[in-house]
Amino acid sequence: MIVQKTKIIPQKIGVFDSGAGGISVLKSLIHSHNFEEIIYYGDTARVPYGVRSPETIAQYSLEALEFFKSFNLDLLVIACNTVSAYGLKAMQEVAPYPIIGVIEPGVLALKNKLANKDSKILILGTKATIQSKLYSKLLSVEGYHNTFGLATSLFVPIVEEGIFEGAILDSTIAHYFKQYPQTPDAIILGCTHFPLIANSITNFYPKKPLLIHSGEAIMEYLHSSYILKNFNKPAQVKFYASDAVENLEKIANLWLN
Ligand code: DGL
Repeated sequence: MIVQKTKIIPQKIGVFDSGAGGISVLKSLIHSHNFEEIIYYGDTARVPYGVRSPETIAQYSLEALEFFKSFNLDLLVIACNTVSAYGLKAMQEVAPYPIIGVIEPGVLALKNKLANKDSKILILGTKATIQSKLYSKLLSVEGYHNTFGLATSLFVPIVEEGIFEGAILDSTIAHYFKQYPQTPDAIILGCTHFPLIANSITNFYPKKPLLIHSGEAIMEYLHSSYILKNFNKPAQVKFYASDAVENLEKIANLWLN
């Protein structure tokens, strides 16, 4: 199928996340060299979203649009899986620019890499993302029915604590993964924080599964749907937060090296 690319050439883009986790997606966008300027906004005053109701997540998501109003964006990337599950539609209805979530690109990335529709797919996410069943619904539209959604909410505070490996993480992984003992063919890292602990996650199983990472998936999606410029250098990033922007910048320094 030939995808008709849209006429917009995104150069100045926004990235929205419930907090600092979206920096894992931001990393892929910066390293692509396809954008001139990126405005990152984390709602650090109200993170985590993943434990909240669908209505509250949608309301917070719409409020984030107010923040981006003055920036004259070409496009907004929703790095947060939870917002992509419950806030994206409401945002797309009112925003004057395109808004892209991470769930659809994640499903397309998996489809491009995994031809066998009987593949065992483990979907990890926050409580809200897993309860939405959006990944499994979109995967079933693509013919994948062997899916299992697992809410692994404790991974979020562990990563926020700067723990990316070791005993605490390994026992948390073992606690959750006993619900899915067979080795999956693919794991969807359906939460901003999970790419940072990808090694520990895959070490649990004897064979390394295919990993779907939101940042890589969104870049793949943008390349297939938009004409992207090459700036030959990383984007200039400005960080904003609803609380303690200095903490966000500290995490950005650590995660972006
Ligand atoms: N950013 C969220 C996500 O990707 C994780 C943190 C939260 O619960 O707000 O789902």
